[in-house]
Amino acid sequence: MRTLAVLCQKGGTGKTTVAVHMAVAAWAGQRTVLMADLDPQRSSAEWRRMRSGPGPGLIESKPGALFVAQQAAERAGVDLMVLDTRPAGDTDTAEAIRAADLCLVALRPSFFDLKATQRMVEMTDAMNKPAIFLLNQASSRRGDREPPAVLETIDALRQRGLVLAPVGLRNRAAYQSAVAKGMTAGEYAPESAAAREISLLWTHMEQALWPARPVGHTPARFRRLPSAVMANVAAANAAAVGAAAE
Ligand SMILES: Nc1ncnc2c1ncn2[C@@H]1O[C@H](COP(=O)(O)OP(=O)(O)OP(=O)(O)O)[C@@H](O)[C@H]1O
Ligand SMILES: [Mg+2]
Repeated sequence: MRTLAVLCQKGGTGKTTVAVHMAVAAWAGQRTVLMADLDPQRSSAEWRRMRSGPGPGLIESKPGALFVAQQAAERAGVDLMVLDTRPAGDTDTAEAIRAADLCLVALRPSFFDLKATQRMVEMTDAMNKPAIFLLNQASSRRGDREPPAVLETIDALRQRGLVLAPVGLRNRAAYQSAVAKGMTAGEYAPESAAAREISLLWTHMEQALWPARPVGHTPARFRRLPSAVMANVAAANAAAVGAAAE
């Protein structure tokens, strides 16, 4: 099992949007996927409730319960756990980073978001965890020209030697319309530019998560978590959440 943590201590950078899109992309690619919503705002849990069809499993968890939830998920045959994290202080963020095989840091092309990533760099470095930085809500090109804020942000990240996702996400209405229906941009508007950029992003993230996937390997034992298995994972998580609250 791999764990992908979507992070940024700054609020509103697109963590939940990116987390649900990565989870659904993996699930649509026949992986068994469990999201863990670690944010008390419960945005990804709300998204899952809005969703009418099948999709990734989701637990509402807490950073202190993650270890137990991960063990239960691993036993249940989950291929990928996606952590949607809160824009919060170091303790919660550190727990998510510790649990992660790979961190995806979402930021907008803005001075404040860029500043906020510095702490993410320090924390992922200190825990020796790989991190990929994803530019989200970037304004569109004017003709062939990238908006200056996008260029400046990319430049600043590169100068710090950070790894950028090879595709950023533009500011697109399709993301907002899709998540409001419990869907992804690819499901809501399959021909859209948003669908294309998410597909490219997932291809890259999948390679980063499973670097040398042997040809012919069939990863998913069962794509949907059977309800009894899901109940076990949820029960283990609930007990751990209860214990973490005490
Ligand atoms: N690429 C995008 N294009 C357009 N809107 C976007 C994009 N990414 C995110 N949004 C919108 O920006 C807002 C914040 O996104 P989201 O909730 O995913 O951020 P977040 O980092 O999870 O926020 P929080 O820190 O509160 O958890 C939402 O309204 C979302 O629909
Ligand atoms: Mg969120």
